[in-house]
Amino acid sequence: TGMFTFDPGFLATASCESKITFIDGDLGQLYYRGYPIEQLAENSDYLETCYLLIFGELPTQAQRAEFQKTVTRHTMVHDQLSRFFNGFRRDAHPMAMMVGVVGALSAFYQDSLDIGNPEHRRVTMYRLIAKIPTIAAMCYRYNQGLPFNFPRNDLSYTANFIHMMFATPCEPYEPNAVLVRALDRILTLHADHEQNASTSTVRLAGSSGANPFACIAAGIACLWGPAHGGANEAVLKMLDEIGDESNIEEFIDGVKDKRYKLMGFGHRVYKNMDPRAAIMRATCYEVLTELGLENDPKFKLAMKLEKLALEDNYFIERKLYPNVDFYSGIVLSALGIPVSMFTVIFALARTVGWISHWNEMISDPQQKIGRPRQLYNGAERRDYVPEDKR
Ligand code: CMC
Repeated sequence: TGMFTFDPGFLATASCESKITFIDGDLGQLYYRGYPIEQLAENSDYLETCYLLIFGELPTQAQRAEFQKTVTRHTMVHDQLSRFFNGFRRDAHPMAMMVGVVGALSAFYQDSLDIGNPEHRRVTMYRLIAKIPTIAAMCYRYNQGLPFNFPRNDLSYTANFIHMMFATPCEPYEPNAVLVRALDRILTLHADHEQNASTSTVRLAGSSGANPFACIAAGIACLWGPAHGGANEAVLKMLDEIGDESNIEEFIDGVKDKRYKLMGFGHRVYKNMDPRAAIMRATCYEVLTELGLENDPKFKLAMKLEKLALEDNYFIERKLYPNVDFYSGIVLSALGIPVSMFTVIFALARTVGWISHWNEMISDPQQKIGRPRQLYNGAERRDYVPEDKR
């Protein structure tokens, strides 16, 4: 009809207004609620960043304590929920379990359907932020055939997640502070990234007034794809394929011949630098040193690959720099987190972004159901043909 703007992939369409996150792709800058990501990564932590993203301001000491206490109170999941896992095969992909189990939360909290009530929305946000690490760790433990670990509320948000992942019931377990800090940074850096595919999915699903837990499950489904949340997984697979430092040059030649891409390099929005990558790079070196892995063949290979690519004209001319996922994959792997859990960690981190956007949208009195139009290019009007005449 010519009445609509045709914009497949939404390259030139702003679907909403938002006060949460600002990206300047040309300058390589990322801000949460006006604060540069570098300052948050250095001085804040993930839980405080959650507060900031949801409420718009950094918490006072009292607000922070109250927030931590409330989130902590919600870390357990209903015992019936833990039984969902038994229905999955042991080798089910953890993202498949995440989609199902997080969606199932909607059956446990009927009050969350009263989305017009700000108090109910707040409790929903607390529940989600609190329970996602518990469910994520359960997915891992189920895959491993290990019993679930209950949350430990004396630990920080991120230390508790590491505890639920790796603690054994038989021995005392104290997560290493450097590793906790590294994982906390990964979570902070992935907490929000404005209208990416999964966040837009959560907004669209939520725009109909659907149950928020079901909307987050939709976001998890969208994140699962290799073009979105799966890139750090791809980096590790690539390192395995290269196998040995002696193969790097040949591998780079293949990239230059356009036979495949160098995973973890380049970005759609950041054309000069991904600000999250610079932070993650420092953290990556810190973690490898702390764990004494500088000489581990896989990590030496990664660092050599990074160096050679950064010196190579192909990458320099195209302004291709490592993105956050190049380093986050290496860090997660060094932390002992299996590759199949990488996207789950991304989902854990992004939950606060998703739910902040959902809350911002629902709070807007002008909010409408999301309903894109299309350009129809199918068959012209025609008459039904009986089966024996086809
Ligand atoms: N390796 C080799 N060449 C590349 C790469 C790469 N990783 N990325 C881009 N190029 C080349 C591309 O072939 C093109 O070359 P030419 O001008 O000769 O045709 C040029 O660089 C411009 O690239 P583009 O395809 O126009 O860039 P894009 O904005 O469409 O793609 C991207 C961005 C992230 C999809 C792409 O860089 C890529 O596939 N990277 C590898 C996968 C990856 O690491 N993805 C994670 C993104 S960060 C996570 C997130 O924030 O979601």
